[in-house]
Amino acid sequence: MSRRILLDCDPGCDDAVAILLAAGSPEVELVGITTVAGNQTLDKTTRNALAVATIGRIGDVPVVAGHDRPLVRPLRTAPAFHGESGLDGPAPVVPDRQARPGHAVDYIVETVMSAPGEVTLVATGPLTNVASALRREPAIAEAALGLVVMGGAYGRGNVTQTAEFNVFVDPEAAAVAFGATWPVTMVGLDVTHQAACTEQVQRRIAGLGNPLATFTVEMLEFYRLAYRREKGLEDPPLHDPCAIAYLIAPDLFETLPADVEVELAGTLTAGTTVVRFAGPGVASRPEGQRHRVAVRLDPGAMFDLVVDAIERLGR
Ligand code: RIB
Ligand code: CA
Repeated sequence: MSRRILLDCDPGCDDAVAILLAAGSPEVELVGITTVAGNQTLDKTTRNALAVATIGRIGDVPVVAGHDRPLVRPLRTAPAFHGESGLDGPAPVVPDRQARPGHAVDYIVETVMSAPGEVTLVATGPLTNVASALRREPAIAEAALGLVVMGGAYGRGNVTQTAEFNVFVDPEAAAVAFGATWPVTMVGLDVTHQAACTEQVQRRIAGLGNPLATFTVEMLEFYRLAYRREKGLEDPPLHDPCAIAYLIAPDLFETLPADVEVELAGTLTAGTTVVRFAGPGVASRPEGQRHRVAVRLDPGAMFDLVVDAIERLGR
C-alpha cells in the first residue's frame, strides 16, 4: 500500500518539483497540499501550488491555503532564488482549479485525525501551519505517522552561518514541531546540498519532450541562474524533493537518531537547529533521540525518481 502524505509547502521551485515527485510516484499517495508563506507571500505560494497541480494534471488533490506570516516574526521571502512570482522561469500557468475554502490548519487536523496511523506530514516550507495544527489539536502528534521536514542543518546554514531558511523564517514554529511527541525526520541542508541539480538532469527532463518537462526545465534554469548569481554555485541544490524521496525510497538515505532543538533567542543564531546525535557523552534530554536526522543521500538515485515521476505525469 502506498504511503499517504500531506505536503505543506511554499512553492518555490524546489517545492514544485517535490509536488510533482509526490504526485508522480506510485509509492506515495499525495492526499493534499497545504500552502504557507515562505519563499513568497501566501497568495503567490498558493497560486503556484495550483499552477503546478494544473500543469502536472494532478487530479483530486485539494490545495488549501494556510498562514500568511510566521507565528511571531515578520515574514521573510526569497525572491532572489524563486523570483517575484515564486515560480519564475516558465510562462505563468493559469490554474484550472481553485484553492479549497477553509484554512490549511483545519485541513491538516481533519485529514490526520480522520485517518489515525495513516498519514505522514511532509513540510518543505516554514513550519507555521504545522505548529498551528499541533496547537489546535495536539493529538495529531499521535495520529500522524510522523513528520518529515525539509529544513534545518547540523552544519552550515543558508541564511545565516547556522540557520536554514525554513527554520529561520519561523523558528518558533519549528521549535513547536520538533518539540512535539511525534517522530520527526529532519532532511536538512547537510543532505540536500548533495542533491545538486546538474545540467545533465535538466537535459534528461527536457528529453521527455512534453509540456510538463518544458515547464520544469524552464523553472530549473531560472533557479540555476539564481544560485549561480547568489551563491556562486553551478549546480543548484534541489532541497524539497529530498523530503519526498525519503518516503519513496528511504534506502537512498542514511539517518541517525538525534535530539533536535531550535535556538530562538540568539541574535546571531536564531533559527539554528541544535542537533545532538545519540552517542557516548552526549547530554540528551529525557525524551532522548526520538527524531532522526538525515546524514547521507544517493543524489543520482534521487534524481532518477524525479525524472521518472515527471515522465509519468507528462504522459
Ligand atoms: O533552505 C531551503 C528551503 O527553503 C527549501 O524548502 C526552499 O524551498 C525554501 O523554502
Ligand atoms: Ca520550500
